[in-house]
Amino acid sequence: MQLPSLSVGLLFLACLPTAALAAENDDAEVAASERIAVLAAMYKGYTMKTMMDRHLNTQVRERRDWGRFSTEEKEAFIDAVHCLNSMPGETPRDRAPGARTRYDDFIVAHIEQTPFVHSSGLFLPFHRYFLHLFDQDIREKCGYKGPFPFWDWTRSYKDPREAAVFDGSPYSLGGNGAYVAGRVGTNITLPNGTIKTIPPATGGGCVESGPFTPDKFELRLGPVGYEPQGPDGGLGYNPRCLTRDLSPVFSRDTSPSRVVALLDQCWDLACVNEHMDAPGGVPGGVHAAGHWQVGLNALDVYASPSDPIFWLHHAQVDRIWTIWQGLDPGRRHEQAIRDLISAIDGEFYYWYPDH
Ligand SMILES: *[C@@H]1O[C@H](CO)[C@@H](O)[C@H](O)[C@H]1NC(C)=O
Ligand SMILES: *[C@@H]1O[C@H](CO)[C@@H](O)[C@H](O)[C@H]1NC(C)=O
Repeated sequence: MQLPSLSVGLLFLACLPTAALAAENDDAEVAASERIAVLAAMYKGYTMKTMMDRHLNTQVRERRDWGRFSTEEKEAFIDAVHCLNSMPGETPRDRAPGARTRYDDFIVAHIEQTPFVHSSGLFLPFHRYFLHLFDQDIREKCGYKGPFPFWDWTRSYKDPREAAVFDGSPYSLGGNGAYVAGRVGTNITLPNGTIKTIPPATGGGCVESGPFTPDKFELRLGPVGYEPQGPDGGLGYNPRCLTRDLSPVFSRDTSPSRVVALLDQCWDLACVNEHMDAPGGVPGGVHAAGHWQVGLNALDVYASPSDPIFWLHHAQVDRIWTIWQGLDPGRRHEQAIRDLISAIDGEFYYWYPDH
């Protein structure tokens, strides 16, 4: 696998079993976290100034780290996800025989659009819009009023089992999948047809704790992106539990230094896309690594919104893009696809004041 030289260096260091080198590596990650905070503050300053200069009085919506939600706010978001997953959907049966709920409508849309909106310049804007539609739906259809959450995976890059979103409490997105011994790797089909094997990690079965256990949450669509595919190419009715396999190996690829490499070294969107998804042309950037460290349902490039962590993961992806844009607003908000390219123009008003 080809990787940029910085990551090769870090991986190399991470593989050497001496405590001194591990500590050096940790220090580098602490420094990288501090760098992200500095860049996020610059983004915040610029964005506030722009909004004041433009006398924007449209309501700008905050997006906030899940770790900073109150328990009431967490509960409200979880309820909103359940609300969409119990409300009848609009997808016709002949288009997706397995779709039942409004939540499924989103999964069907993602399955159908996947070949066009991944590994391409449409990746970031499509997902900005997709999140916007979900955000709108939980508010309009389910009365959600809180900030939209993101999962800052740089904070749990050593082990996603330590992330608040996965702590398995009633105020999380659920815990790990039950450990299943003797599993083989999952061969996922990437949008261009390449197969990648994701080795088994720490879970493998149904999510055992929290608000998305089998008694509370049912998946119906997929799999599409790995075998055995669900009926009708994954669009058929395939009721089953949410599964996870949290991986402290892939989480290393969402470390603070991987984000700093993107924020400090990218000067155009092509570079940002590569760091999100395909450094050196091989998928495995921070976006892909976010999915791969969750595992199973989240691995399915097509049906990945099946795992509700999808929304928090993609809000983080969008946050990184938004911060990157905010660091050189004159140029980075004006790279076409109209208003989607900016989070403070058009209809996409939101920001990430955290940190
Ligand atoms: C996954 O792919 C590898 C390499 O091609 C193959 O050896 C393995 O049998 C595949 N696993 C499954 C479950 O299909
Ligand atoms: C698919 O993408 C990967 C990574 O970008 C690349 O290595 C591979 O050659 C591509 N395969 C095809 C069939 O285009």
